[in-house]
Amino acid sequence: MRSEAHLPDGTPVVIRPLTTDDGDELKRGLEHLSPASAYRRFLGTPPTLNGTTLKYLTDVDHINHEALGAADPKTGHGIAIARFVRSTDDPTHAEIALAIADAWQHRGLGSLLLDALAARARAVGITTFTGLVLADNVAMLKLFERLGPTTHHPAGAGTVEVTTDFLSIR
Ligand SMILES: CC(C)(COP(=O)(O)OP(=O)(O)OC[C@H]1O[C@@H](n2cnc3c(N)ncnc32)[C@H](O)[C@@H]1OP(=O)(O)O)[C@@H](O)C(=O)NCCC(=O)NCCS
Repeated sequence: MRSEAHLPDGTPVVIRPLTTDDGDELKRGLEHLSPASAYRRFLGTPPTLNGTTLKYLTDVDHINHEALGAADPKTGHGIAIARFVRSTDDPTHAEIALAIADAWQHRGLGSLLLDALAARARAVGITTFTGLVLADNVAMLKLFERLGPTTHHPAGAGTVEVTTDFLSIR
C-alpha cells in the first residue's frame, strides 16, 4: 500500500500506512515539530511518547484506526502523519488529526494526505470526518472544507468541532 506522490511543486513524497516499526520515527517527528504546530495538533501539551502510547499510535488495525505517514524519499525521514479513529457511537464517523512537519507545511502535503486518508476511510465504510480544531487554524479548516460541506460547532477554549461528509469525493 506504499504509494509515491508529488506535491504541486513537483517534490516527490512517499505515503504508506504506519507499522509498529515506525515508533522511533514518530517520536523523532514529534520532537522536531515546532511548539506552535504541536499545540495546534494536540490543543495543548503533546503526549509523552512512552511504550504504551507509541503502541497505540503505530499498532493500528487499518479498519477502525488508520494512520498514514508521508516520508521524504531523499532522507527516508517521516514528514507527516494523518490519522482517523472510528467513532464507537456511529461507525460511519471517524475523528481525524494531521501533523505536517513545519518545513513541509503549506505545500499541499496536508491536502494530499487527507485525500489518501479519505479514500482509506471510504473503503472501510466511513463517510464522515470530525475533528476538534482551533478556531483560527485556517489551514485545517480549509482541509475539511475541500472534502465536502462542513458544519462547525463551538467547543470551548477557542476550538470548534468540525464535521464533513465526504461521500461525494473520488
Ligand atoms: C493544518 C495542516 C495539517 C495543513 O497542512 P498543509 O500541508 O500545511 O496544508 P496544505 O498545504 O495542503 O493547504 C491546505 C489549505 O490551507 C491553506 N493554507 C495552508 N497553510 C496556510 C496558512 N498558514 N495560512 C492560511 N492558509 C493556509 C492552503 O492554501 C490550502 O488552501 P486551498 O485548498 O484553498 O488552496 C498543517 O499546517 C499542520 O500540520 N499544522 C500543525 C498541526 C495542525 O494544525 N494539525 C491540525 C489539527 S488536527
